[in-house]
Amino acid sequence: MADQTFDYDVLVIGAGPGGYVAAIRAAQLGLKVACAESRETLGGTCLNVGCIPSKALLHGSELFEEAHGGILAKFGVKTDNVTLDLDTMLGEKSTAVKELTGGVEYLFKKNKVTWLKGHASFKDAHTVEVAGETVSAKDIVIATGSSVTPLPGVEVDNDKGVVVDSTGALSLSKVPGHMVVIGGGVIGLELGSVWRRLGAKVTVVEYLDQLLPGMDGEVRKEAGKLFKKQGMELKLSTKVTGVDVNGDTAKVTVEPAVGGDAEVLEADCVLVAIGRKPNTDGLGLDAVGIETNKRGQIETDSIFNTKVESIWAIGDVIPGPMLAHKAEDEGIAVAENIAGQTGIVNHAVIPSVVYTMPEIAGVGLTEEAAKEAGHTIKVGKFPMMANSRAKTNRDTDGFVKVIAEAESDRVLGVWIITSLAGTMIAQAAQAMEFGATSEDIAYTCHAHPTHSEAVKEAAMAVQGKPIHI
Ligand code: FAD
Ligand code: NAI
Repeated sequence: MADQTFDYDVLVIGAGPGGYVAAIRAAQLGLKVACAESRETLGGTCLNVGCIPSKALLHGSELFEEAHGGILAKFGVKTDNVTLDLDTMLGEKSTAVKELTGGVEYLFKKNKVTWLKGHASFKDAHTVEVAGETVSAKDIVIATGSSVTPLPGVEVDNDKGVVVDSTGALSLSKVPGHMVVIGGGVIGLELGSVWRRLGAKVTVVEYLDQLLPGMDGEVRKEAGKLFKKQGMELKLSTKVTGVDVNGDTAKVTVEPAVGGDAEVLEADCVLVAIGRKPNTDGLGLDAVGIETNKRGQIETDSIFNTKVESIWAIGDVIPGPMLAHKAEDEGIAVAENIAGQTGIVNHAVIPSVVYTMPEIAGVGLTEEAAKEAGHTIKVGKFPMMANSRAKTNRDTDGFVKVIAEAESDRVLGVWIITSLAGTMIAQAAQAMEFGATSEDIAYTCHAHPTHSEAVKEAAMAVQGKPIHI
């Protein structure tokens, strides 16, 4: 039964994986819920222009590369005259997006969540204005997510398709001859891989001396080696100083990060992928006295309450990794906390996956972070070259690395680079959530022959006793 003082018990602002999940969970808990979303479809960045369309293109381009690149032929599957119908591939991506965003709309109806269509901004701690209407709620959850960080002096025009951000790179009307990617992070490598597989020459310009900041050092190095082997050109420790568009092409001026001679790269497409920033513009935070931190994020306590008692925040707009599953788990937790239950997210165990080929995944501490935190560690590594299934599939790139605390043997982190890393990391996350030791993983029976046996062997390697190396 709704509190009669307000229109709703809970109003969620933003219907991305954080917001829509919070709205559904709050409704499941018997609360009267509305969710404001300014986009024309539900699902946020993730379903509309993020996780889902990028994975559709990664899958489609992978099929194309398999048919084209020799691995099928190696197994006797002859695929002469393979051609690309890009429109069909893009169409299939759009169908997946439509099905999934429509699915969230169905779930809203099923759970009686009211969708308020329009941009929401605060009037006071219990009231927002959406599309000219004033709506009140006992509790309000900010789940406004994030958007692309612009590169000063570089103008993105997704319609024109010469200088694009991730949204533009999901819908290019033709395969570029040369794509220059600014930023060797997750988006640059995933979308760079898509267009390389479809035939583009891809150059990645990264400011730091390795790709994928935040991931384990050895994994970053191995990733660099493998992307280079696939034909990507990597310009590490390099900064972009200017992008000049002339008709259908652009000149990208780069120079060493520490300064030095400039070089000009000619490109048909430039993808700017240097990070994302929290969405708080036009939200009216001033009206409720909430300030953002130096990184533009809204700070909360461990139960996702802001400094204003009736206002909560989750997902990309608060500190922590900008990942859909982190936002979803926070969505469930915040709804449970609002309903008077105990909603917790263990931020020490949030897996992250880069969906390239091979996939790159990790959970917990990197070796560098574990040492920096003062842990004495033992590390076990197992190469996919020695895993029977990977060898059989001719899929031997990469390794599994288990990092355990030396004295207690408790697992602090697991890092995997191999074709199925994104799936394999789930068992590591579950083990860590249960406080597992490397011995617990080593003595868990793993099905043979699977890539997952490499996780068991890497755990055995922590004690120096893997069987197959
Ligand atoms: P969002 O999904 O950004 O949703 C926020 C919603 O709020 C938006 O729809 C916005 O329109 C709406 N909104 C904002 N302000 C207002 C307002 N004032 N009023 C009304 N509505 C408002 N993460 C993964 O875990 N796995 C992946 O594979 C992955 N791939 C990605 C690929 C790309 C290309 C990109 C860009 C991101 C990817 N991400 C991935 C990140 C993931 O999309 C985000 O972490 C996730 O969407 C964050 O969820 P959220 O609910 O916090 O915010
Ligand atoms: P990112 O933070 O992953 O990578 C940005 C990269 O750009 C960094 O390596 C950084 O050093 C580099 N950089 C920054 N400024 C630069 C400059 N001026 N010149 C050259 N390099 C520069 O950000 P990205 O790739 O834009 O992704 C944004 C977010 O989206 C990430 O935080 C990620 O969590 C999320 N995401 C997650 C995916 C997944 O889970 N598979 C897929 C795609 C995005």
